[in-house]
Amino acid sequence: FAQQKLAGRRVVITAGPTREPIDPVRFLSNHSSGKMGYALARAAMEQGAETVLISGPVQLTPPDGVVLIKVETAQEMLAAAEQQAAGADVFIGAAAVADYRPVACADQKLKKTDTTDWQLPLTQNPDIIASVARLGQRPKMVIGFAAETERVAEHARSKLTRKALDLVIANDVSRPDIGFNSDHNAVLLVDVEGDTALPMASKHVVAQHIVAAAAEWLAKGDRV
Ligand code: PMT
Repeated sequence: FAQQKLAGRRVVITAGPTREPIDPVRFLSNHSSGKMGYALARAAMEQGAETVLISGPVQLTPPDGVVLIKVETAQEMLAAAEQQAAGADVFIGAAAVADYRPVACADQKLKKTDTTDWQLPLTQNPDIIASVARLGQRPKMVIGFAAETERVAEHARSKLTRKALDLVIANDVSRPDIGFNSDHNAVLLVDVEGDTALPMASKHVVAQHIVAAAAEWLAKGDRV
């Protein structure tokens, strides 16, 4: 048997979309299926990690042995992420967090009115991964994703510095064959040393590469 590369390590992963309620029956969200994050949880389990999966609402079954924490909103995901990530070895933010939420959630279902235009005031959600990267007990490695539709490498690199991340996994979400809801992905690994492209493969295989990169990073940290 090959040695498990993350035995004794704690890995915390976010997955899926968040839902930001407008009223009791409506919400703002996005097309994330959770497949990328769940594939990462499986790959981390394969390498023997204690794996925590903080998941927005998705139609997937978590891998056996994973600690699953279900959340709905970005604010709930932030609370769970800060609690679970403190002192962890690796944090991976694969969730598609809604950048904005309605300023207020109406108590009752909003009724259609006579006006044709409807303005919904929004406010910015907290940046979960940036908060995790600035925790007192920061995880040893913080890995973010970058969902881009243009200038993928450039935007990913700016997220690496702006959010204080160790590695960014960039994917082009304008392509229908990869990214949101697909079983496949093609990514660019962006860190201070440069960019490495991973050609299109199943999300499981992509996840195995990302987990291997994390294991290598931790092993390097142990040597210095
Ligand atoms: O779920 P799937 O259908 O499998 O699709 C996978 C995916 C396309 C959702 C995934 O591969 C991916 O790209 N996830 C990140 C989506 C995203 O929100 O990207 P972003 O570029 O907007 O955010 C950059 C990073 O900041 C991400 O790690 C994100 O989790 C994080 N973030 C963003 C906003 C916010 N308020 N808090 C955050 O933590």
